[in-house]
Formats: sequence, C-alpha cells, structure tokens
Amino acid sequence: MNRTAIVSTLAFAVAALPALASEELARKSGCLACHGIATKIVGPSYKEVAAKYKSDKDAAAKLFKKVKEGGVGAWGQVPMPPNATVTDDDIKALVKWVLSQK
Ligand code: HEC
Repeated sequence: MNRTAIVSTLAFAVAALPALASEELARKSGCLACHGIATKIVGPSYKEVAAKYKSDKDAAAKLFKKVKEGGVGAWGQVPMPPNATVTDDDIKALVKWVLSQK
C-alpha cells in the first residue's frame, strides 16, 4: 500500500468510528434490549427521544440523571430501571449519541 492509500484508509476509519462506537456501546450497555434507534421496543426509539428534546438545552443533564437513576412518566407508565452498571462517562456518551439521532 502506498502512503496516500494508508492515509485515506486511516481517515475513513476515524470518520466511521464515532457512530459505530456509540451503537456498539449502547448494545454493550444493554440499552438496545429496550430501545431501538428508529423503533419503539419497551422504551421510546432514540429518534423520538432526540425529537422530543430538540430545543431543550438542559436535555443532556436531565437525561443523564434519568438514564443513571431510571424513572417513569415521560413516555408512559413503563419505568426504565436504573442503569447502575454503566459508568458515568459511558452514560454521557450514550446520551449525546441518543440526542444526535435524526
Ligand atoms: C429494561 C428496559 C430499558 C433499558 C435496559 C434501558 N431503557 Fe431507557 N427507557 C426505558 C423506558 C421504559 C423509558 C421510558 C421512561 C419514561 O416514560 O419516563 C426509557 C427512557 C429513556 C430515555 C428518555 C428519558 C426521558 O425522560 O425522556 C433515554 C434517553 C433512555 N431511556 C436511554 C437509555 C440508555 C442510554 C440506556 C442504556 C444505558 C437505556 N435507556 C436502557 C427502558 C429501558
């Protein structure tokens, strides 16, 4: 492989990483058992969540707390249990990723 090919392969890998890493993180963290990106399962789809909080500038902080501690009432009567095994950094990354779904 020549130098240009290596550089463009690397650039592609880096560009593709964030989306993949976050979906993979959501899967690993158990979120996708209850949430689809575009489909409601037990909880709302992540596209619905992103749409709901589109103009709420406190959404990241609110949803961080909600995902960490669990809760009910925003989408219906089915509660989300606390995600106690997921680290704070992972929850922050996941919330940011959820809010970026369109
Ligand atoms: C056992 C099922 C379950 C799991 C696992 C789960 N959720 Fe949820 N989630 C729900 C339900 C049900 C709701 C709706 C709660 C409500 O109506 O307030 C919800 C709501 C949410 C919301 C919107 C909260 C709001 O107040 O609008 C976000 C964001 C979210 N989940 C992210 C996550 C993330 C990230 C994970 C993984 C770390 C996760 N969820 C794991 C069931 C789950």
